[in-house]
Amino acid sequence: MSGAPLDLLVLGSGVAGLSAAVRAAGVHGLRTGVVTKGGLALATTRWAQGGVAAALSGDPEEIDLHLADTLAAGAGLCDVDAVRVLVDEGPRRVEELIALGAEFDRDERGDLELAREGGHSVPRIVHAGGAATGAEIERALVAAVELTAAVVREHTFAVDLVVEDGRCAGVRVVGPSGSVEELRARHVLLATGGAGQLFAVTTNPRVATGDGVAMALRAGVAVADLEFFQFHPTALHHPLMPRPLLSEALRGHGAVLRDLDGERFIDELLPRDVVSRAILARMGETGAQHVWLDATGLDHFAERFPTIAADLSAAGLDPTADWLPVAPAAHHQCGGVVTDLHGASSLPGLWAAGETSCSGVHGANRLASNSLLEGVVFAHRA
Ligand code: SIN
Repeated sequence: MSGAPLDLLVLGSGVAGLSAAVRAAGVHGLRTGVVTKGGLALATTRWAQGGVAAALSGDPEEIDLHLADTLAAGAGLCDVDAVRVLVDEGPRRVEELIALGAEFDRDERGDLELAREGGHSVPRIVHAGGAATGAEIERALVAAVELTAAVVREHTFAVDLVVEDGRCAGVRVVGPSGSVEELRARHVLLATGGAGQLFAVTTNPRVATGDGVAMALRAGVAVADLEFFQFHPTALHHPLMPRPLLSEALRGHGAVLRDLDGERFIDELLPRDVVSRAILARMGETGAQHVWLDATGLDHFAERFPTIAADLSAAGLDPTADWLPVAPAAHHQCGGVVTDLHGASSLPGLWAAGETSCSGVHGANRLASNSLLEGVVFAHRA
């Protein structure tokens, strides 16, 4: 990465960063670099259990329904043009992930299985390995990027943007040996994920420390909606951190919430912020530290959700017999670096995509399984 400036320097190796790198290096032949502070495959994307929401039939009415559900979940604060882009272009991007080798769950006829989650009026979410969707997408994208000429620098921590003559000209990084270096590029894409580690209780891995937003703020780049941090309703109430997530797909398949008296108290398939608030209210009323997720009625739990079954087994819980203690945990940063519909930030030469960006698609609350989708759609556009 030393020598002549790169065409594109991507910061971050999750779904947004790797999608952009594959496209820039593999399709457009741009001189592309990827800098990631951990290993290439260790981004937060890998932790994403659910799913990718998209109206894969291509039916305009179904696409409009996805738009309506996204706007409703966003509580009136989404950018309608950005959501229109997300739902219109999403199906094509999912097909491209499949063409790259990502394997989503299929029924016995070979058709994609479509699941429902909170806030979705119809089943439209594809998963991989039950609740290991992010890991499968990350696997496919890492393999794809390794086939390109993109230069990858792992264990390299971007600390500040280099700004010259009112334009982003690169990034200052700290390499694995601790030495500071400037990497020059004509364009820099922030795809550094969210900031879940700001919170004491979170589903996010240790890498989710908001580096992209911090660098942008220090360079005077516009950010917005950082107050909208989404809490996932059903993180396992357990000392483990990050908290094991009990995917919304469980409720989509019929798991129900119960208070400590065993009573149901909320429609489990309302948008995530509504369900989280209802849980917190019930915890406040009863003085409890958690409520219960009752998944005992689900068939074939271990076959359908092997990764969740393994987490539960490690915690000494059997979902076919035990109610599972759950409580909300910080999960997704809805705001971030303000971008236009092509990922451009307020600083020329600086772009952003995925959780670190504020593309406008999430408003005050992200619709379940719209985040991996946002990553692929807006990285492609950027
Ligand atoms: C989940 O599977 O519940 C998480 C999916 C998401 O964050 O959209």
